[in-house]
Amino acid sequence: MPNTPVASAVTLSDVVLTRRVNRSQQIEVLDSVTLSAAEGSTVAIVGPSGCGKSTLLEVACGMLKPTSGTVTAQPAAMMAQRDLLLPWATALDNAALALRAAGLSRDDARDQAADWFPKLGIAGFENVRPAQLSGGMRQRVAFARTLLAGRPVIALDEPFAALDALSRIEARAWLSDALAAGGRTALLVTHDVEEAVLLADRIIVLSPRPAKVVESLSVEIAKPRRRSDPQVVAMRQSILELLGAGQ
Ligand SMILES: Nc1ncnc2c1ncn2[C@@H]1O[C@H](COP(=O)(O)OP(=O)(O)OP(=O)(O)O)[C@@H](O)[C@H]1O
Ligand SMILES: [Mg+2]
Repeated sequence: MPNTPVASAVTLSDVVLTRRVNRSQQIEVLDSVTLSAAEGSTVAIVGPSGCGKSTLLEVACGMLKPTSGTVTAQPAAMMAQRDLLLPWATALDNAALALRAAGLSRDDARDQAADWFPKLGIAGFENVRPAQLSGGMRQRVAFARTLLAGRPVIALDEPFAALDALSRIEARAWLSDALAAGGRTALLVTHDVEEAVLLADRIIVLSPRPAKVVESLSVEIAKPRRRSDPQVVAMRQSILELLGAGQ
């Protein structure tokens, strides 16, 4: 054996998924999708609006069973497209939710969750309710909750879609730090191709629905990456062309 194979945390083989949209109509959402995420890597998934990205994450996380094909994945926690924080609970209690659900006492769950507030740049906001947080802060709380679920795989569905351009740039920085430190495998759905190139080790480009894998690209650019790096600019451009060609 010339190479030691890298263990895969998530593997989809020939996954087909049809969804029932109403009583008489079914649509094909995923069309023979094959992909894998190496343990500890960040895999970005990009594709046109409505092509099946969220569906793909749900399948990878075991929330949806494929119509055919196979999914082999380590346990995953998903951060949904909307932040879904409980409006009546404080930021700290929201972050601690997964730990509470796992059976920890409120104090223990809050203690563990509190460790993440300084790491994510939101120290001091523990006792604030979501309505009083900025969009970027809410996303950090939701992200902390996802990490604290303690699963080896985290699936992030457009985590920064609701943020303005500047908050997004800041958010990429804390996400990239947290992923680098965490040793988790991350599946990141984003419509922002530049974000995919800045954060991912591999980028999966999907076609319009039903989603097929158009390309799976390994990103061999040293981290941390800069937006102005010519390699980043070139890769972003070639992915945009792939997406354009697929439409
Ligand atoms: N719960 C559902 N039941 C039936 N059909 C659904 C459901 N959720 C999504 N769909 C359909 O599946 C297709 C893919 O949806 P999905 O949300 O996976 O796409 P997406 O790529 O995440 O879209 P977006 O870019 O808008 O987030 C769409 O045509 C949508 O109408
Ligand atoms: Mg989606």
